[in-house]
Amino acid sequence: MFARLVGTGSYLPGDPVSNNDLAARGIDTNDDWIVTRTGITSRHLAEPGVTSSELGLVAAQRALEMAGVAASELDLIIVATSTPDFIFPSTACLIQGRLGNKGAAAFDIQAVCSGFTYALGIADKFIRSGSHKKALIIGAEVFSRILDWNDRGTCVLFGDGAGAVVLEASDKPGILATAMHADGSQSGILNVPGQICGGQVVGDPFLRMDGQAVFKFAVRVLADIAEEVCQISGIRTSDVDWLIPHQANVRIIEATGKKLGIDREKVIVTVNRHGNTSAASVPLALDEAVRDGRIQRGQKVLLEGVGGGFTWGAALLEF
Ligand code: UT7
Repeated sequence: MFARLVGTGSYLPGDPVSNNDLAARGIDTNDDWIVTRTGITSRHLAEPGVTSSELGLVAAQRALEMAGVAASELDLIIVATSTPDFIFPSTACLIQGRLGNKGAAAFDIQAVCSGFTYALGIADKFIRSGSHKKALIIGAEVFSRILDWNDRGTCVLFGDGAGAVVLEASDKPGILATAMHADGSQSGILNVPGQICGGQVVGDPFLRMDGQAVFKFAVRVLADIAEEVCQISGIRTSDVDWLIPHQANVRIIEATGKKLGIDREKVIVTVNRHGNTSAASVPLALDEAVRDGRIQRGQKVLLEGVGGGFTWGAALLEF
């Protein structure tokens, strides 16, 4: 029994916001710095009041449409997000309600930028166990809400968006291997340290990051976990048709591909146009490459994420 990917969808809010647009809004930055250090040229930012569930709903509807699956058929809905609409109910329950599904298990998971790969791993285990048959997995974020727009070292890096996939139980290959890891001793290098107390956010409500520490950690674990899922599946990393790493920085993506011996042409890159959309980055890139025809049935696709926690996760699948 496999969890087979039968549909993908994504959604980006509004028009692209360029690096020059950010500088024009008063951020002390410039296009040359951002492009040279990160490869990012633009990102999408949700209008005030637009929530992760709204972005995730559209991505989900597009994935269901491609899959030819009705929302009522779903028995599992998982949303990966660090920017949920509410403390509770979960973003997954909100999307379930809007889709008109009743009865599916629905919950959010919080593994920051690794969230989508964690959610895929969880759904794969549900489906392989035989307990669930049709799963909707969504990564949805409005990271712009947790950015300090006076901190030029972080605010230029991120964007908003959502991506989704539909998985079905099948005897044809689908997800071949998944892995997920965390190292809580590294929680200090990327975090949003505010706490909720007495109905208020107490402390710092914005994302804080030690960029260079994150950079080094990310390249190491992205290479390690790619090798891990290939080893579980009994294939070489050079047999991977498409690598879709977390879209945080072109330099991290290139360094990871190089370490794994995967050609540049086999690496899907969207960070240049999306920025880092955290849990949405991998499904957004996957949907783009499926819809433009680069990813073909039968090909091996390696998805991987890394983010706050620190967490990292991967899934190797046959499309
Ligand atoms: O999901 C994981 C999310 N995080 C990441 O992937 C981040 C990984 N890290 C990185 O991508 C890089 O560390 C950054 C792109 C964040 C930063 O690059 P860096 O080469 O590590 O730069 P830096 O932080 O050491 O800053 C170098 C200089 C500083 O100026 P001084 O002190 O040398 O005069 C910064 O103040 O660049 C300055 N700077 C900027 N200048 C223009 C920092 N941000 C900006 C900016 N525009 N936006």
